[in-house]
Amino acid sequence: MSETESMYLDILKGLAVHFDSRFITDIRETALQHPDIRLGHALNHNQSASKKWLIDSLFEATSGKLGRICILGGWYGVLGAKLLHDPRFDVEHAASVDIDASCEEIALCLNRTHVDTGKFTFLVADMYNMDFEDHGFDMIVNTSCEHLDTIGRWFERIPAGTLLTLQSNNYFGIDGHVNCVETLDQFKQQVPLEEVLFEGELELKKYTRFMLVGRR
Ligand SMILES: C[S@@+](CC[C@H](N)C(=O)[O-])C[C@H]1O[C@@H](n2cnc3c(N)ncnc32)[C@H](O)[C@@H]1O
Repeated sequence: MSETESMYLDILKGLAVHFDSRFITDIRETALQHPDIRLGHALNHNQSASKKWLIDSLFEATSGKLGRICILGGWYGVLGAKLLHDPRFDVEHAASVDIDASCEEIALCLNRTHVDTGKFTFLVADMYNMDFEDHGFDMIVNTSCEHLDTIGRWFERIPAGTLLTLQSNNYFGIDGHVNCVETLDQFKQQVPLEEVLFEGELELKKYTRFMLVGRR
């Protein structure tokens, strides 16, 4: 390990003491065991701001009682960890789903605290093929809508009345961003909710993120 890497890890370890945070300890362990540049992307400023916005808006819309949740396109499990570590929320179980099996090991490491309590699991699956009726989730989150080229095909699989939290963006030109939208209205047309509890946009440095919370 280089001196610089060692310095960053020491700082994270020190922060964990200061904030008494199991989450920061889990992040440090994950960075140590999986020094992958993409982990840095998943935890960078824009991603963190977008997740914080989601979590704060979701709390406003639901008062925090979430039950069994499913996070689609959950990547390295950052959102699952943030929701499970946030004392405002009552999460019975979080299933983080991704089509990319290489995410599993990192997501499990980042969620070590809640893997140990049985509250976090990872599922390798294509969300286009999942049977959501069978799973009976109380809430489904999809912050990877910009990655779905035929999003309607996914949306029609969601049982009527399901609580949904959805994000997309206008960050065109990024690898895998095959379904970006120009506006919030365009996003609403892609995922027509029966009842909208929250809608909004967040200006970030290079793009705008759009969010909808509501019932299918
Ligand atoms: C770059 S990441 C996450 C971006 C997102 N804005 C966020 O932070 O939540 C997008 C993830 O969606 C996953 N993904 C794309 N298509 C999927 C599908 N059909 N089923 C499940 N996961 C999928 C990719 O493997 C990737 O890990």
